[in-house]
Amino acid sequence: MSSYLRALRLINFRNYADATVLLSPGLNVVVGDNAQGKTNLLEGLSFAATGSSPRTPNDPEIVRWGQEFARAEMRVTLEGDGERSVAVGYAPGQKKRLTVDGASAESLAAYAAGGTGVRVVNFFPDDLRVIKDAPADRREFLDGLLSTLRPSYARAAADYAKAVAQRNQLLRRIRDGFSSEKTLSTWDAKVIELGTTVLEGRARAVEPLGELFGSSLRALYGPQKAGLEYSSSATPEDYEEKLMEARGADIERGTTSVGPHRDDFAALLDGVNLTTYGSQGQQRLATLALKFAARDYVRRETGADPVMLFDDVMSELDERRRELLAEYFLRSNQAVISTTNLDYFGAGLLDRARVVRVVEGAVSAA
Ligand SMILES: Nc1ncnc2c1ncn2[C@@H]1O[C@H](COP(=O)(O)OP(=O)(O)O)[C@@H](O)[C@H]1O
Ligand SMILES: [Mg+2]
Repeated sequence: MSSYLRALRLINFRNYADATVLLSPGLNVVVGDNAQGKTNLLEGLSFAATGSSPRTPNDPEIVRWGQEFARAEMRVTLEGDGERSVAVGYAPGQKKRLTVDGASAESLAAYAAGGTGVRVVNFFPDDLRVIKDAPADRREFLDGLLSTLRPSYARAAADYAKAVAQRNQLLRRIRDGFSSEKTLSTWDAKVIELGTTVLEGRARAVEPLGELFGSSLRALYGPQKAGLEYSSSATPEDYEEKLMEARGADIERGTTSVGPHRDDFAALLDGVNLTTYGSQGQQRLATLALKFAARDYVRRETGADPVMLFDDVMSELDERRRELLAEYFLRSNQAVISTTNLDYFGAGLLDRARVVRVVEGAVSAA
């Protein structure tokens, strides 16, 4: 069995003052009425496992209103044997404190990419935007997945974004006559170096991920052929040439038009782009299929199953798919899913799951 989450303690996290939850391998169901803290609990698990919220880039939001800091502590049961204690402490205005067995983590990237002994794949209802909305949402999905696998990718992606922003600033200075075009070449080289790492990382992942997406969507939706298609403004081979070609126009516009920050991927069902033409139901199932593909890809790359944290995933599905999903989660290494309604699960199924109840930021065994 792969590593799994054994216990979580949340202090001043969202609507939790101080709550502890114990988890089991296999299926865990978090049940509660609306606005009691189900989503917050899943966010807290992810926060403890990765050091960041999967819902917001704005950390102060997670601190309980009126409090000065938030803390998430987690015990991870490691594959084979042993345990690891990890914790994330956050106070607005200060650097996040990440610890593994009491010692400071080397970096956020290292903590998130295996440092805690466990990786997670999240699903929040808002993730529908990965299929439905803009290319930036799809790039964020890919970069997030690859960053959990390798801290070196996480660093390259973050540094690339900064380098592009700096290059854009310089482009505008050149356009406005405050800098000469000669100064651009250092930034071009930096952008190309980091951007190539990002491009190559994505290129390696998209094909296997597309196959896994195809088989997941077949299981969830039907026998149609589904896949992913990456589209890029440049390949690692012609990147430099294209960036140079676009230089004049880039200076005029004051922005960098070539590179992985402009790329996208399409989710296709029988050749039809689901972003443009998919029904809401198809887009929802495709989002789920993408998350299942991410889970399989993590397993393929690391040899270990990630933990699945799926928020309110049952409510929009029909009965057949709810059953399919419940069985899938039950068979998985570990899944924590939230629901308002236990009737979504057959009784025989709940006997094999751990059920916890959430009421106004307090957790109890159900
Ligand atoms: N930083 C915060 N401090 C205190 N309460 C918060 C904070 N952020 C969100 N909440 C509250 O947490 C409550 C529960 O939210 P949520 O976990 O989304 O409920 P649900 O059980 O429906 O998933 C909401 O009423 C929300 O107002
Ligand atoms: Mg919720």
